[in-house]
Amino acid sequence: MKHRLLLVLSLMLASLLIAACGAETPTSTPAPATGGSGSTDSSSGAAASGKIALLLPETKTTRYETADRPIFEAKFKELCPDCEIIYSNANQDSSAQLSQAEAALANGAKVLVLDPVDSAAASVIADKAKAQNVPVIAYDRLILNSDGVNYYISFDNEAVGKLQAQSLVDQLNSSGASNPQIVMINGSPTDNNAKLFKQGAHSVLDPLAKDGKLTIAKEYDTPDWSPDQAQNEMQQALTALANKVDGVYAANDGTAGGAIAAMKAAAISPLPPVTGQDAELAAIQRILAGEQFMTVYKAIRPEAEAAAELAYGLLTGNDKGGAMSEGKTVNNGKMDVVSVLLTPIAVTKANVKDTVVKDGFWSVDQICTADYEQACKDAGLK
Ligand code: BGC
Repeated sequence: MKHRLLLVLSLMLASLLIAACGAETPTSTPAPATGGSGSTDSSSGAAASGKIALLLPETKTTRYETADRPIFEAKFKELCPDCEIIYSNANQDSSAQLSQAEAALANGAKVLVLDPVDSAAASVIADKAKAQNVPVIAYDRLILNSDGVNYYISFDNEAVGKLQAQSLVDQLNSSGASNPQIVMINGSPTDNNAKLFKQGAHSVLDPLAKDGKLTIAKEYDTPDWSPDQAQNEMQQALTALANKVDGVYAANDGTAGGAIAAMKAAAISPLPPVTGQDAELAAIQRILAGEQFMTVYKAIRPEAEAAAELAYGLLTGNDKGGAMSEGKTVNNGKMDVVSVLLTPIAVTKANVKDTVVKDGFWSVDQICTADYEQACKDAGLK
């Protein structure tokens, strides 16, 4: 009796052990849900390797080559010294970007970090990547109408537009202008961000316009975010309005530069307040010199570094995006994309020192070249 009980117990133990071993040795290894085949999980202790692609949209705006690319590459190389980054810039050409993405996929990229020239057209790229089990990160601009977008990392872009418009309104109010006449120079109609900046700005400006407290006299969408195009638009506006412009909403520093060039060419003095975005070096200098009123500083380091971390996580199957997003999602027309959204900051002469300089985005030496010595002293930078 005792022997039979022992035998039954040992048989039960043996079958349990066999079942447990079987569970640990699946007959086929499923591909990780997040893609990343060909890489090695860093948590195993082995060095990770593999290729990823960084695809940026243009070069006329300085941020991409001077900040986004070098910061992303440095962070990614730090995380994964043996990995390869395939890099392309599309120079505002959306079909060139499609070819660059196809080339990256053919070349073995296991993750795409894509800042689309055209947010809608880029759905084709995300769909192709998904079909090859390659995860996609929408970098700075959302990719619309595809269910192949794993993450969106950007800023609160509607807040950018609100900051720009509110700063302009506050400045116009403080100068006592009654029913000021403004010109709006928006970004590229193919960029989803440009749509959000515009929406944010209108949410501040439209109620005032409705109450007769401000007039949006002219408004343009600027193809390719081109500064030259913005200059033409401003020229047209000045002609149509007989040079009576009290303020300019420019969606970024490149377009602000174009608008300011047009006003200088028309000998407008003093220049009215002009908004911007990106905290480009030239814009910070214009702000100190009193030619541009404000810019929006979007700290590119946390954006580019978070993108590098997400890309690394997706490559190695060690994905931490859920925690980084704090539960935020943004709908792209096809899916709710898990999103990391950072906070933009308005910068005027008064806080250049406490924002871009404090962060090391630009050093005092970079800003305060010979032409800006006095302006730098006045702003307490020197
Ligand atoms: C970016 C801006 C940039 C603009 C032009 C937008 O999508 O968010 O920072 O100035 O594109 O490249």
